[in-house]
Amino acid sequence: MKISVIGSGYVGLVTAACFAELGNKVTCIDISKQKIQSLKQSKIPFYEPGLENLVEKNLKCKNLSFTSKYADAIEDKIYFICVGTPQRKSGSVNLDYLFAAIDSLLKEFQQGIDQDSKRHIFIKSTIPPGTIRKIEKKVLLRKLNFSVSISSNPEFLKEGSAVNDFMKPDRVVIGSDSNTAKKICKELYKPIIWKSNRFIETTPESSEIIKYASNAFLATKISFINEIAKLTDFYGGDINEIRSGMGSDVRINPNFLYAGIGFGGSCFPKDLTGLIHSFKKAKINPELIKATVNVNNEQKEYFLRKIYKLYSPKELSKKTITIWGIAFKSNTDDIRESVGIKIVKALSPKVAKINIYDAIAIKNAKNELSNLSNISFNKTLASSVKNSHFLVITTDSKEFWSFDHDLLTTLQDNRIFDGRNMLDIDAMSALEIEYFGIGRG
Ligand code: UDX
Repeated sequence: MKISVIGSGYVGLVTAACFAELGNKVTCIDISKQKIQSLKQSKIPFYEPGLENLVEKNLKCKNLSFTSKYADAIEDKIYFICVGTPQRKSGSVNLDYLFAAIDSLLKEFQQGIDQDSKRHIFIKSTIPPGTIRKIEKKVLLRKLNFSVSISSNPEFLKEGSAVNDFMKPDRVVIGSDSNTAKKICKELYKPIIWKSNRFIETTPESSEIIKYASNAFLATKISFINEIAKLTDFYGGDINEIRSGMGSDVRINPNFLYAGIGFGGSCFPKDLTGLIHSFKKAKINPELIKATVNVNNEQKEYFLRKIYKLYSPKELSKKTITIWGIAFKSNTDDIRESVGIKIVKALSPKVAKINIYDAIAIKNAKNELSNLSNISFNKTLASSVKNSHFLVITTDSKEFWSFDHDLLTTLQDNRIFDGRNMLDIDAMSALEIEYFGIGRG
């Protein structure tokens, strides 16, 4: 099929490259000419495993093309909108980019030569309930002499495994009133869902809410296990054992039950705020979702208090410390709403020096932390712990599972604060290192 993807950000680029890989002719549109220029040379502005190869391969075989002109995609008739829907200061969702993209498309439709055939627009951007209906009204106002269907087709891509998530989805959700749109969508996703057959057809409202409810539920699982972890810190026990015990019940399952310093990233915090705002508009108090947010905000403070309990402000001011991991999670260079960044900002004025190590996100971290004078960035785990008093772990990178533990013996205070429960307690006690995890007694 010939399709257009509007927006070449994280979701747009993965969607465009993966649809191209599935054999479609995809035009990816972005109003930023600069971005389009570098994408034409397969230069991806962020780190996402496997994406650059897909883009390069599909550019070569001409399944994928990039343009900044809407007019170039006018013959495609199937459009996936993947523009950002950021958070406003009030907490509401800013739909300006989405409406601008729809307006640009409609303008082109009106000028197009072929006015007979139907157009289908699928919204992948995360949108609050009621948005599809709002767009439908906008389309009606244009009094077009051909019909346009508007459907919701939310994305459920995790950064760091987005290509894999797209190609092996747990489900594809289409929220639409149009049977033709549903048919087109099913056909497009057929190569990747024919095995599981998890193609879920809903109303636009259900689809919009499925996206928010899924993220809110996952975030709630994380806040739940983080709250329970406080109990094991007090009474003893190990939160990992509790996760296994609870998670063995198939109704619960062990995923997203890892205790830590709380969730971050570009989705969970923003989507929870957006969801709370939708509740507010409906004059309903979302007590559980608010609690999820509060527990998450408190989790970082809870972790920091573990450090403050052991060091007076005066002692802390003389310490050189090491932080491993700065992205909001492993396998990404994304530092948006990263708890690691927040921890660095909280500790920087209190300590003498911070050495940071992150294999992927250093460039972004350098920009974000450029105004802090006591930060240095390290290229190896070993150099980052040299002359350091204690270590703080803030992301769950696989390399922190297995490395030469001997390098930890250089830590002058023999202490590790592990915000992701990455290290083995027995191995740490064998090295006579005092270990502080989350909910590990
Ligand atoms: C999320 C959703 O998972 C995805 O479906 C949606 O489309 C976009 O938002 P992402 O933001 O990439 O994806 O990250 P995710 O893997 O969900 O992790 C979010 C945060 O929760 C991270 O900070 C992560 O470290 C944290 N987390 C995750 C935990 O603290 N514990 C867990 O058990 C799982």
